[in-house]
Amino acid sequence: MYNINELTSLEEELSKASKKGMKIGLVPTMGALHDGHLELIKQARTHTEYVIVSIFINPLQFNQTDDFLNYPSNPLKDLNKLKNAGVDLLFSPDTKLIYPKNPTVKIDFGSITKNLEGAFRYGHFEGVGIIVMKLFNLIKPNVAFFGLKDLQQYVFIKNLIKEFSYPIKLIGVPTVREENGLALSSRNAHLSPSGFAIASQIYKGLIWAKNNFKSLQSSEVLILKLKKFYQKQKGLSIEYCEILNSSTFKPIKSLKGKGRITLCVAAYVEGVRLIDNIFLQE
Ligand code: PAJ
Repeated sequence: MYNINELTSLEEELSKASKKGMKIGLVPTMGALHDGHLELIKQARTHTEYVIVSIFINPLQFNQTDDFLNYPSNPLKDLNKLKNAGVDLLFSPDTKLIYPKNPTVKIDFGSITKNLEGAFRYGHFEGVGIIVMKLFNLIKPNVAFFGLKDLQQYVFIKNLIKEFSYPIKLIGVPTVREENGLALSSRNAHLSPSGFAIASQIYKGLIWAKNNFKSLQSSEVLILKLKKFYQKQKGLSIEYCEILNSSTFKPIKSLKGKGRITLCVAAYVEGVRLIDNIFLQE
């Protein structure tokens, strides 16, 4: 596996692969790799012939300096995992390579960037948009792999690909979970054993909602009941809990329609911010 942090070598390796007519798959990450990331890589290996993983902790998408500085990082462990996973190329640029100077261009990526993650992490999606466009422009993948754990990010990238006419196929990979239901996340590394147990209640609440939403009148009632359930869990504090159209990410009031409905939650446990979601109706 090549480990590249420089643009000319990246271009050389990419042109070798495309000369051989290989389909290029890209898995963008911020490192501290876990089995969720490895599942994306597995899917990339199934769908494409040349798999590139990028590791870059993108300062632009963090709205709090502390969160950026404390973001877990484990380069040696990551390298081993990538080698064992059969990745062809690791692109791990340093910040100067990606942002030689502070970006001056600002893009408004539209309404999806204004609610949920966009509302609570101001500027987050603008930062994600810039880095993902840079990666798409530099790597020109045929297929890109994103996790459905970050469903709003997945829908945002889907829009971005369409709006900017990238000839890239997007594959969304279902959420990989711990045995107790907690969605794998690099941030879980900051949880103590008891925090880990408390955090599993997030998914328990989502499952309860999925099993019960049909008997309820409206999103409002479902959210009230779900918040009550979460309030009973000591050590868990909910930031948002919303019901949305799965494709547009616009809030939904009635639960009686036939469209695709998603429930998204963000919560804090031991100061660690965790997000999760479930498709209520597909
Ligand atoms: P990061 O949080 O490292 O996640 C990289 C990819 O792994 C994302 O597509 C995310 O949705 C996916 N992922 C994370 N946990 C997962 C899980 N439990 N199951 C399945 N997939 C999972 O998301 C980012 O980085 C960044 O915003 C990035 C897209 C790299 C841009 O900087």
